[in-house]
Amino acid sequence: MKIIVTGGAGFIASHITDAYLKKGHKVAVIDDLSTGFRRNVNPKAKFYKADIRDQAAIAKIFAKEKPEAVNHHAAIAEVVKSLRDPIPTLQVNVLGTTNVLLAFGMHGSGPRRKFIFSSTGGAIYGEPKKIPADESTETSPLSPYGLSKLLDEEVIRFYARHYGFTYLIFRYPNVYGPRQNPKGEAGVVAIFGGLMKEGKQPIIFGDGTKARDYTFVHDIVRANELALKKGKNEIINLGSGKMTTDRMIFDAIASATGYPDEPIFAPYRKGEVYQISIKADKARKILGWKPKTTFKDGVRATMETL
Ligand SMILES: NC(=O)c1ccc[n+]([C@@H]2O[C@H](COP(=O)([O-])OP(=O)(O)OC[C@H]3O[C@@H](n4cnc5c(N)ncnc54)[C@H](O)[C@@H]3O)[C@@H](O)[C@H]2O)c1
Repeated sequence: MKIIVTGGAGFIASHITDAYLKKGHKVAVIDDLSTGFRRNVNPKAKFYKADIRDQAAIAKIFAKEKPEAVNHHAAIAEVVKSLRDPIPTLQVNVLGTTNVLLAFGMHGSGPRRKFIFSSTGGAIYGEPKKIPADESTETSPLSPYGLSKLLDEEVIRFYARHYGFTYLIFRYPNVYGPRQNPKGEAGVVAIFGGLMKEGKQPIIFGDGTKARDYTFVHDIVRANELALKKGKNEIINLGSGKMTTDRMIFDAIASATGYPDEPIFAPYRKGEVYQISIKADKARKILGWKPKTTFKDGVRATMETL
């Protein structure tokens, strides 16, 4: 299959690119390298350095590649940044996504054209009354980032109808693993791991009870492989259904690295969800997916690469 992967120089989509190529697919990556790295892009993939906000450039790439599927991961993926300065997040995540959809609608090829998308389970439900959240949980984002993904979901459904392609929207948990940028705002495992390896003291925002559903990147990649064949016009949660607190992460990495000190505790940051986990029963039914990597193994694999 010929697939365009956007954001393929970044953390998650670079692994997806590797997996698609390994399965024998032809992959072209689009990325503006704003948070991604050229070194993450598999040399067997074609690479286009382009901004998804650039309508003419994106249309030209799609007209040349004529992909049968798009796996869309390019985005500004930072909650706190989106609260501080919402316009770039909304421009890239909503209008950029619209550009990708328009280009795919006009230039995609083949009878089974499919658009696969990385939405968020961690930031779309807000603070749900019932945890773990399933797909029927009311959406109530606390940040422009979460809002941008919710808007994207509607835009995707509209253009899929309009152009007659199918879609699969994943609502991700907190994904962690090798290649996650320890200098970024998100990705507590990479951030804590990076700091502790340098002997620097990590900051916990809150009292350490803030919790997320952590899923290893290879499990997320497997769902994206299954998505090429299964799941038609669905919104599907991915996650373990379990909560891991910041304190638990700190302790796991401290014990893996032999870090001797305590964390610094700072006030909670506005817009960040307090506790969430994601129920993935639908992923099991439709895709036959469930996460396989334990948190302990995932942290070890991540630390080896930091
Ligand atoms: N990491 C997580 O836990 C998580 C959770 C939920 C959803 N997601 C979503 O998954 C996707 C990938 O996240 P990630 O953690 O790998 O982040 P990342 O920052 O590593 O990857 C995003 C990539 O998109 C590229 N990009 C950003 N703006 C662009 C633009 N205007 N044009 C072209 N390329 C652009 C960046 O250079 C980067 O390579 C994002 O859409 C994110 O919202 C991630």
